[in-house]
Amino acid sequence: MTSLSPAPLPPRIPENAPFSAEQRAWLNGFIAGLLSLDGREGQVAGAPAAAAKDDPLDDGDDGAAPWHDQTLPLAKRMALAEGRPLRRRMMAAMGQQDCGQCGYSCEDYADAIFLRAETELNLCVPGGKATIRMLKALHAELEGEGAPAQAVAPATPSGGPTRDRPVMASVVGVTRLNAEGSAKETNHVELAVEPAGLPYAVGDSLGVFATNDPALADAIVLRLGAEPEAEVGDGNGRSRRLRDALLEDVSLAPAPDELFELLAGLAGGETERRRLLAMAQGDDPDGDLETLDVLAALEKFPGLQPAPRDLIGALGALQPRLYSISSSPKVEPGRVSITVDALRYLAGGRPRKGLASCFLAERVKAGDRIPVYIQKARDFALPSDETPIVMVGPGTGIAPFRAFLQERLARKASGGAWLFFGHRHEATDFLYREELEGFQAAGTLTRLTTAWSRDGAEKVYVQHRLRAEGRELFRWLEEGAHFYVCGDAARMAGDVERALREVVAEHGGLDAAGARAYLDGLAKAGRYQKDVY
Ligand SMILES: Cc1cc2nc3c(=O)[nH]c(=O)nc-3n(C[C@H](O)[C@H](O)[C@H](O)COP(=O)(O)OP(=O)(O)OC[C@H]3O[C@@H](n4cnc5c(N)ncnc54)[C@H](O)[C@@H]3O)c2cc1C
Ligand SMILES: NC(=O)c1ccc[n+]([C@@H]2O[C@H](COP(=O)([O-])OP(=O)(O)OC[C@H]3O[C@@H](n4cnc5c(N)ncnc54)[C@H](OP(=O)(O)O)[C@@H]3O)[C@@H](O)[C@H]2O)c1
Repeated sequence: MTSLSPAPLPPRIPENAPFSAEQRAWLNGFIAGLLSLDGREGQVAGAPAAAAKDDPLDDGDDGAAPWHDQTLPLAKRMALAEGRPLRRRMMAAMGQQDCGQCGYSCEDYADAIFLRAETELNLCVPGGKATIRMLKALHAELEGEGAPAQAVAPATPSGGPTRDRPVMASVVGVTRLNAEGSAKETNHVELAVEPAGLPYAVGDSLGVFATNDPALADAIVLRLGAEPEAEVGDGNGRSRRLRDALLEDVSLAPAPDELFELLAGLAGGETERRRLLAMAQGDDPDGDLETLDVLAALEKFPGLQPAPRDLIGALGALQPRLYSISSSPKVEPGRVSITVDALRYLAGGRPRKGLASCFLAERVKAGDRIPVYIQKARDFALPSDETPIVMVGPGTGIAPFRAFLQERLARKASGGAWLFFGHRHEATDFLYREELEGFQAAGTLTRLTTAWSRDGAEKVYVQHRLRAEGRELFRWLEEGAHFYVCGDAARMAGDVERALREVVAEHGGLDAAGARAYLDGLAKAGRYQKDVY
């Protein structure tokens, strides 16, 4: 059946209204995005309630956050925050992904540090070492300020397991999703927390605490020339053995600034000491700083021998990793699944393994118990059952959409569902193929569009398919569809947004400003949601 292209959107801002042509175009697009739900207005988030007068966060700041864009470099973000209150500059120093890995949103993490409710400055994973350094500099401004320590609302409602209060889950099984011959290893990891299960909803993520690779811990023990059982203490006056601390307590990648400072204190000569201190500030004299994990940093300075206790003291705490949940609690209460790409690469001539993804791929077996918690999604959830949804999830980005489809099947939801899935090869990397076909047969998945990037002479990505299906896609949006993206934040999410903007411009008869505003309107109405990492 061919569908007619919808008529271009009628302008809603009168020609004689006091706006420039560009402002009028933006406003028309914005209102069109808000109203495209069959003419009904979407749910617009209300303005935040006015802060209480004695609230230390009530500093007169207008709340705008122009730096809240993960594609902006740190220097640009800090420039945009210049002159703003300290807590706002702290927010600008964060990675801007609102990924929840620190246990907060970017804004809440900054506020928690400002209120002295959070003392750890190294929790922002996307921001990396540059964010840590900037936060340390900004934190120095807090010295001498008398703001009282205040509690900040936890990201997960009380009662459920949290980052600070995980529960033990039993591993039911780890199954590779790629067929024989694929260069990728993506695993379906099934866990059980029985009998009560975990209080999660589709769209939430699972926090997983992994342990370090024993081979890496052993190599560090060997490099230190220490006994694995050497006493290093746990920092709270209790006994802790070196190998256990290396396995369970501290991060072994990347090498933190504090390690270079420790090595600088041991340096034999002034030149080496200065070099190490410069590296602790982010200088990269040999162009290899990015490749230095703890072992590589120790091996780079073979003459320097830190004491085991000092080494452990210089390393950051081992952090959990988040995975988008790929199951619905309605299907099997007590169970939860995640979809994990095993990260392996070569750096500095040594094979490296992602901490949690390879822990799950290589070292857990059925029956093992691992600590987990739920990271509630902030703005990533299914709409009402009758509302159509468009899901774009290449690679592991498919994870939450499997959960959405399971949930919709269980609820017998009537709304249309369109999935854009992409991966390398159809024959080996069509993750959850049979299940997706099952959802199609059941009528839960009404359209499936695939993009195989390495099957033809040219790369075909999901955004190419979005453009090719532009007319129909725009029709879905005009009929009120919610648009979801999940997966790589660095490139894919931006490319998809560009394609979506082009589709809206072409089929909605909007210029660039109008198309941008249309997407802003969708986002504001909760109809454009992202789970990107
Ligand atoms: C909300 C959220 C949801 C997520 N959902 C999923 C999901 O469903 N499935 C999934 O697989 N992942 C998901 N992730 C990503 C996941 O949390 C981990 O980041 C990922 O598994 C890697 O973690 P790791 O511990 O295995 O690797 P780590 O030990 O953390 O190593 C990763 C680091 O290695 C370095 N690195 C990576 N590749 C290279 C390279 N080629 N060269 C040099 N250095 C490199 C980078 O510094 C990178 O930060 C999600 C993340 C978030 C925030
Ligand atoms: N930081 C980064 O740059 C980056 C990028 C991607 C993934 N990752 C990480 O890698 C892990 C697993 O990745 P994954 O299995 O989800 O995906 P993946 O294997 O990296 O990619 C899945 C599919 O997406 C394609 N793709 C690559 N670039 C794209 C783009 N700009 N737009 C749209 N599609 C694109 C890939 O094509 P080709 O491979 O053939 O180009 C492949 O077909 C995750 O932990 C993720 O965070 C990181």
